[in-house]
Amino acid sequence: MGKLYTVYVRSYCLDPEKDKGFFDLVGDLYFTDEVQGQKQYRQHSSINRLDHVRSVTYVAYRAAKNLGFDVRAAARGAMLHDLTYYDWHDPARWHRPHGFKHPRFAMLNAEKLNPAITEREKNIILRHMWPLTPIPPRYREGWVVTLADKYCATQEMLRDHSPRLMKKFTTTLNAMQ
Ligand SMILES: [Fe+2]
Ligand SMILES: [Fe+2]
Repeated sequence: MGKLYTVYVRSYCLDPEKDKGFFDLVGDLYFTDEVQGQKQYRQHSSINRLDHVRSVTYVAYRAAKNLGFDVRAAARGAMLHDLTYYDWHDPARWHRPHGFKHPRFAMLNAEKLNPAITEREKNIILRHMWPLTPIPPRYREGWVVTLADKYCATQEMLRDHSPRLMKKFTTTLNAMQ
């Protein structure tokens, strides 16, 4: 668990040079206005959606690499898994219930942003909310992303409500920089 946590915190200090392998895979998506614009939306507690998707992508990337899975599909699917252009806390009804509807919105937005998206990447996005949405991911990379998503969301929510965990996070991050 310690190693996973370190990988998670690392996602907050990635460097285009030191982490060239990562940015080679997802940089063309990560630096688009659409993905960078995700920072204006709140995701979990005070954490913005850009920080969330970068963490999920980096954790999924490292896990897929370790497991010998399709790293490119895992990373690129993860990068676009929550690509929506609204604040889900908004009371507007059209996007509710958000948990059920946003995977399809994200998949359609991902297709528009990247017409070369693969079937595997689309399935990763569409099925990432399992088991809330009952159809599971079709590919093993989809399992990696759905688990990375849950792990990162849990970390985000916990530290926002716990001064002790927030301190642990900042101490770990400062030690890396
Ligand atoms: Fe999501
Ligand atoms: Fe997510």
